[in-house]
Amino acid sequence: MWEGNEGVAISAAPLTLPELFCNKSLIKGLNALEIFRNFFYRTKGKIMQLHDKPKIWAAFAPFEPIRNYLDENADFDFNRSGDLADRQMIKDHLPGVQGLFVTLRDKIDAALITAAPDLKAIATMSVGFDHIDVEAATQRGIWVSNTPDVLTDATADLAWALLLATLRRIPEGDRLVRSGGYSGWRPDLLLGTELSGKTLGIWGAGRIGQAIARRALGFDLRIIYHSRVRKPEFERQMRARWVEWPELFRQSDFLFPAVSLNEETRDKIGPAEFHLMRRSAILVNIARGGLIQEEELIRILRLKLIAGAGLDVYVDTTGIHKKLGDLNHVVLTPHIGSATVETREKMAFMAAEDLISILKGQPPKYPVNEIQNSQWETDLERHRVRTA
Ligand code: NAP
Ligand code: GLV
Repeated sequence: MWEGNEGVAISAAPLTLPELFCNKSLIKGLNALEIFRNFFYRTKGKIMQLHDKPKIWAAFAPFEPIRNYLDENADFDFNRSGDLADRQMIKDHLPGVQGLFVTLRDKIDAALITAAPDLKAIATMSVGFDHIDVEAATQRGIWVSNTPDVLTDATADLAWALLLATLRRIPEGDRLVRSGGYSGWRPDLLLGTELSGKTLGIWGAGRIGQAIARRALGFDLRIIYHSRVRKPEFERQMRARWVEWPELFRQSDFLFPAVSLNEETRDKIGPAEFHLMRRSAILVNIARGGLIQEEELIRILRLKLIAGAGLDVYVDTTGIHKKLGDLNHVVLTPHIGSATVETREKMAFMAAEDLISILKGQPPKYPVNEIQNSQWETDLERHRVRTA
């Protein structure tokens, strides 16, 4: 029944001495000496954990200032392999870890959560949390936190960079110039598409969707959007018009999915939606590859049933579908929506601070889930009262 003094899970509530002595079935099985020894070790183990700095492991190597911050506030270690962690590496490091620091590359599923008996907090350095089984974490009383807001502008900027690069064929132009194929202005050289006066369509008027729309104001575009919930303030400020799902595809010249990936949004853009789109339309995806049926997208791009695409995200989170690389009218970036120095530093600090807050018994600032009456917080509070 007892695990000695080191490996006691904090969530298993210890019996108090009176509880122990009143429990007749326990008394039957244990002699007085054992009872005393077990109580001593269990209490000692618990106090050790409460006194000790919490153990945090990062599945990647955070920037040095973040490492220093975590070193000061926790018993901190990280993946020093020089590469991102694979599943086995994460699994091997989970026992004893109370705080787990991950990126969107690290799939934290229910099986991994089960393999982490001491885990109290998972912080992801991303706003998207589709790589974490939040339900399994919640059931285990584990907080999950993410990094909203700080990456909104950087990601909306990249969405626009992709649109402009696709419309004005910038990568093609760059390749032409570098390869020595440029020999001066020509009336028919790399003709693109005009921006102003067109219709920009957004699926999901969340933080990034709205930031994409804000950037459209200077370009004299008409804004339409589709989302589950209408956003009157957004409609007023951006003169945006909510449209039904099929209308979003029918009317958009430039289409931006900007929703989170989950079971309801996965694969939502497929043949029926592509069929509705204009031949001149451009699709820009900075959200998640899984929102779009990628094989179908490749097929319609090959057939030129839409004019082009700017893509930052793919179904495979570790690379791209080979066939996408063969298409000229597609601009591809390697999932760099939030990749500015300023934004990544903010993201890392937010995630690290939330880990420390949770492990000090305070709720995170950026929770993805809600943990009621966490046993960990209760234990910490009891410990504080006892030792005050
Ligand atoms: P957000 O403010 O939470 O917005 C999420 C949007 O998704 C909302 O519009 C929401 O609709 C919609 N949504 C969520 N679940 C839905 C469902 N089941 N059905 C329909 N719509 C649903 O998030 P954000 O900060 O804008 O980020 C959006 C996504 O962008 C992230 O989840 C992430 O995947 C991606 N992202 C990518 C990069 C990159 O590097 N390329 C960087 C940052 C973020 P309602 O308004 O109706 O609630
Ligand atoms: C990036 O894709 C994020 O979700 O932060």
